Amino acid sequence: MLFTTHLLFLFIQFAYGQYPPPQINDSQVGIDTGYHGPLESCSCAEDRPRIKWITFGTNTSYAQDGGDTFYSTWGPDWDTWFTIDDSAGIKASCSPNGSNIIINKARGPSVADLRPATVNCLQKEWGLHGDDMGHGDDGSWKTTGLSWLDDVLYLWVSRNFAPAAGNNSLRQTAQNSCLLKSLNYGVTFQGPDDEECYTNPTFPGRLFGTPSFIQYGRNGEAGPHGSDKYAYAISNDGSWDNGDSIQLGRVPRERIANLSSKDWEFFNGSPSEVSWTRNLSDAKPLLYSQNQLSSTAAIYNPYLEEYILNEWYFPNRTGYGVYPQALYPTVWTWYASRKPWGPYRVVSNTSWPNAAWYNPSVLNKFWGFDGKSGTVITSGHAYLNHSSQVLSTIPFEIETFW
Ligand SMILES: *[C@@H]1O[C@H](CO)[C@@H](O)[C@H](O)[C@H]1NC(C)=O
Ligand SMILES: *[C@@H]1O[C@H](CO)[C@@H](O)[C@H](O)[C@H]1NC(C)=O
Ligand SMILES: *[C@@H]1O[C@H](CO)[C@@H](O)[C@H](O)[C@H]1NC(C)=O
Ligand SMILES: *[C@@H]1O[C@H](CO)[C@@H](O)[C@H](O)[C@H]1NC(C)=O
Ligand SMILES: *[C@@H]1O[C@H](CO)[C@@H](O)[C@H](O)[C@H]1NC(C)=O
Ligand SMILES: *[C@@H]1O[C@H](CO)[C@@H](O)[C@H](O)[C@H]1NC(C)=O
Ligand SMILES: *[C@@H]1O[C@H](CO)[C@@H](O)[C@H](O)[C@H]1NC(C)=O
Ligand SMILES: *[C@@H]1O[C@H](CO)[C@@H](O)[C@H](O)[C@H]1NC(C)=O
Ligand SMILES: *[C@@H]1O[C@H](CO)[C@@H](O)[C@H](O)[C@H]1NC(C)=O
Repeated sequence: MLFTTHLLFLFIQFAYGQYPPPQINDSQVGIDTGYHGPLESCSCAEDRPRIKWITFGTNTSYAQDGGDTFYSTWGPDWDTWFTIDDSAGIKASCSPNGSNIIINKARGPSVADLRPATVNCLQKEWGLHGDDMGHGDDGSWKTTGLSWLDDVLYLWVSRNFAPAAGNNSLRQTAQNSCLLKSLNYGVTFQGPDDEECYTNPTFPGRLFGTPSFIQYGRNGEAGPHGSDKYAYAISNDGSWDNGDSIQLGRVPRERIANLSSKDWEFFNGSPSEVSWTRNLSDAKPLLYSQNQLSSTAAIYNPYLEEYILNEWYFPNRTGYGVYPQALYPTVWTWYASRKPWGPYRVVSNTSWPNAAWYNPSVLNKFWGFDGKSGTVITSGHAYLNHSSQVLSTIPFEIETFW
């Protein structure tokens, strides 16, 4: 019954929802082929910082759309594609049982009119909840990123362990990441399945346990720094929340679809001496900050020509506190750099005293025209209400140095 409903839903999505004509509101949507340099003149030596500080507005929350971990990417169909973990899906599309990992998209022309819809509940593939695939390790499958690149939709999956499953210093740890791809707009995925990912993951261990591709343009349109030849991905050292370091990996774009870890290299130099190694254990972190570097995404702002790494963490969740009260407050420590490999500097350190706003993900389609504003989607047990774990958007403003 459930399966039939699910198939019907997918069919409806496929027949009516997958390939709509672009509905672009030019007063809302950012430029697509936008890598033409800044719109305002400034003395911009290659390494000179552009972003001075980032400030945030207030949330808009979608009470019907529960779940969390909304990694987003801008699709070739002009839609904003995004993940949800631990959810019944958009408007409960994956009811009644919910799912660990769900693929969705927002077809709307503006942040005020997102029109989100679930594309694939992935229930058979990655389970409904926790360890219901029966591995017996108290872990569960979660996603750490979604990316469109050259008409292929890539999904990262990794094995997560809640604090209750072990003594993790009240972190949810993540390990054994796997890279999957879809050639049919998220209807089916190729790459490791549940069994294969459990026994033979793309990246074993925790060091690249939460990979997420750096976002450039729509459908992975290249920007600078070799992004026409390589796809770059960041990962922390294997925690959904409160990790310690960020690693940078890269894979040739012409080989990424092969889904092989052998094609990957990891940054092991410094911002002034860029070098790469094939040995992940030899990678050098871009950033180190104990307990303050959670699993997150990074994006290139083509207007300001800077990378933004939108970090967040729970300051009250670094010892052996009580779950889940210590999910408050959340701190958003955002970093910026002119190059993917740094140097990164802090451009916001904002505390949300009453909310667990976690995994903020910048909506690539909705930069403001001058690149000095944008919107993130985020999730949280907002305002001390543990049942209000829903999709939320939060706008931000960027102050520049000129
Ligand atoms: C586009 O967005 C603007 C700003 O929100 C709004 O005023 C306008 O009505 C929208 N246009 C269309 C055609 O939807
Ligand atoms: C922000 O989130 C809270 C808690 O979910 C909600 O009550 C409030 O309405 C949201 N604010 C807006 C502007 O949607
Ligand atoms: C799914 O939910 C239905 C209705 O609550 C329940 O009967 C069924 O056992 C659930 N299936 C699984 C696999 O959890
Ligand atoms: C976790 O480890 C800490 C420090 O060693 C210890 O104090 C605490 O009792 C442990 N908690 C559990 C649930 O094992
Ligand atoms: C993909 O990987 C396999 C195994 O490593 C190799 O034989 C094959 O040539 C690769 N294909 C491409 C297109 O790189
Ligand atoms: C990878 O690097 C680690 C740490 O430097 C080292 O111990 C190990 O021998 C290296 N492995 C290979 C295959 O070079
Ligand atoms: C978080 O930690 C601070 C400092 O220790 C404390 O004052 C506050 O009560 C804690 N908040 C929660 C919700 O645990
Ligand atoms: C951000 O602010 C917090 C206090 O809220 C502080 O503990 C932390 O060190 C700051 N982070 C940075 C990178 O300055
Ligand atoms: C918590 O959120 C749920 C779902 O959004 C809502 O039904 C409930 O009224 C909220 N409770 C409080 C105390 O705000």
